[in-house]
This record gives sequence, C-alpha cells and structure tokens, in this order.
Amino acid sequence: MSSNSEEKDLLFYEAYEDFYDMAHKSKAFSDFCKEAYGEDFSQDGFSDISQVDMILEYIPKDAHILDVGCGNGAMLRYLQQKTGAYIHGFDYSKKAIKNACLLGNEKSDFQEGIIGEKEYDDNSFDLIICMDSIYFASDMTKFVNQIRRWLKPGGVLFVAYQEGDVMDKTENSDTTVFAKAMKKIDWEYDAKDITDKSYDMLTKKREVAIKYQDKLIAEGCASWAELLVMQTDYILDGREKYFSNMSRYIYTARKLD
Ligand SMILES: C[S@@+](CC[C@H](N)C(=O)[O-])C[C@H]1O[C@@H](n2cnc3c(N)ncnc32)[C@H](O)[C@@H]1O
Repeated sequence: MSSNSEEKDLLFYEAYEDFYDMAHKSKAFSDFCKEAYGEDFSQDGFSDISQVDMILEYIPKDAHILDVGCGNGAMLRYLQQKTGAYIHGFDYSKKAIKNACLLGNEKSDFQEGIIGEKEYDDNSFDLIICMDSIYFASDMTKFVNQIRRWLKPGGVLFVAYQEGDVMDKTENSDTTVFAKAMKKIDWEYDAKDITDKSYDMLTKKREVAIKYQDKLIAEGCASWAELLVMQTDYILDGREKYFSNMSRYIYTARKLD
C-alpha cells in the first residue's frame, strides 16, 4: 500500500488493524475461538472447524494453497499441518501479515496486498480459498477471472460466502453477486447451503462470547467483548427469521484442464 490516505479509504481497514492487534495479544480471545469454533484461527468470520475441514478434500499432495484475506495465517497453518502443503496468503492488514510472517516457515509466503490489486503468476495454485473475504472485491467479475488465471488446470476455488452481513441477502445460491460473476465468465460452480449450520454456530458463539466477556474485559478488551456478542444478534429473532435475513453458502469451482 502506498499511502496512509489510501489505507483509510479501504473499507474496515483500521478496524482490521485493531482486530489483528487484539488477536495477537489476547489469550482470552484465543480461548474463545477454540471453544466457539473448535479451533483458534483468529476468525473474524463465520467459519468453524467443520467448514474449514471441508477444504481438506481439495488439497492434493504437495499442493500450493492461496488464502485471499488470510489474516494472521492461522487457518493456512492448520491446513499445512494437516497436509504438508505450501501455503501462500495475502491480506491488506499490515499487522496480520507481520504476525503471519512471524509464525511462517520455508513452505509459507505471506504478503500484504489488496483484493483486486494483488497479482500472482498464472497457473500458480492448486487451491485458492476465500473465507469470508471475496466480498471485498470491488469488481467481482474481474476478481473471479483473476483467480481462475492464478489456478493451475484442475485447480479448485473454495469460497465461504455469507449474505445478510456485508452482502445483501438474495433469493438463493444462484442469485448472489458471486454466482452472477461466475455465470458472466462462464465458470461452473457447485453450491452447498449451510445456513442451518451457520445458525447453530452463531448460537454457540453467543453462549461462549457471553462466557468470555469478563476475561476479555480483564485483559483490556472491553469493546471486543461487547462486539463478539453483538456479532451474534442475528439469531435473537429465532431460526425462521434468521433464514429470511441471512444465508451461508460454500461454493467450489474447478478450473478445467
Ligand atoms: C471477514 S475477515 C475473514 C478472515 C479469515 N479469512 C477468516 O475466515 O476468519 C476478512 C479478511 O479480509 C481482509 N480484507 C478486507 N478487505 C480487504 C481488501 N480490500 N484487501 C485485502 N484484504 C482485505 C481483512 O483484513 C480480513 O483478514
């Protein structure tokens, strides 16, 4: 990134700098993540361990995986531990990338970069994951085209995609901004609706966030203690209402040989 004013113009930039600073320092947040999501990936999304484990079947031997919006790289490190893959990630947060590099190894590569601006060579990756990050592409069609170029023939794009939060809720998995962009470039995808699982996950997250409030406050993270509970307010009106306001999909798409 070239100047401070540009950084401020990026959606949520300062909030993510603060978030990754807190995630690096707070033991209570790490414990919260483990209990709420099954593993600490410093999630600021909706991915619990069951969703992350869905990625494993798309990782071949000696794979190169790219994580778009990788944060501090914890999710990638988990995938590497499970499969021995080479891991690559980029994120616009300086603090997240600094912390990712601290825990890196000879098979990891973490870089600062903005979605839509960051570039990689064609045919570089066996798998590209976008876990609650693809929303930040200012031109979705251009970005999915770019991702297709980056994938090796036979490589897979894996996207965890939420509606009703950053993105407006649409009718179904074929009407999202992402699905429309994929249709525009004639790239076939599979979609799995996991809205019900997402509701259950948020119900658990709320229970755990309330449990950890005092510990977070004791560590000086009062505003995060409040925010973690607020992030689950979507469930307060019950499952039926949640379904009418929110959706969560896992999309996968394979680049043809
Ligand atoms: C909702 S969080 C998801 C993080 C992580 N993938 C997960 O599932 O927990 C979105 C991530 O995208 C990053 N991000 C947001 N806007 C971005 C942009 N324009 N360019 C690059 N990274 C961005 C944030 O710093 C954050 O790490």
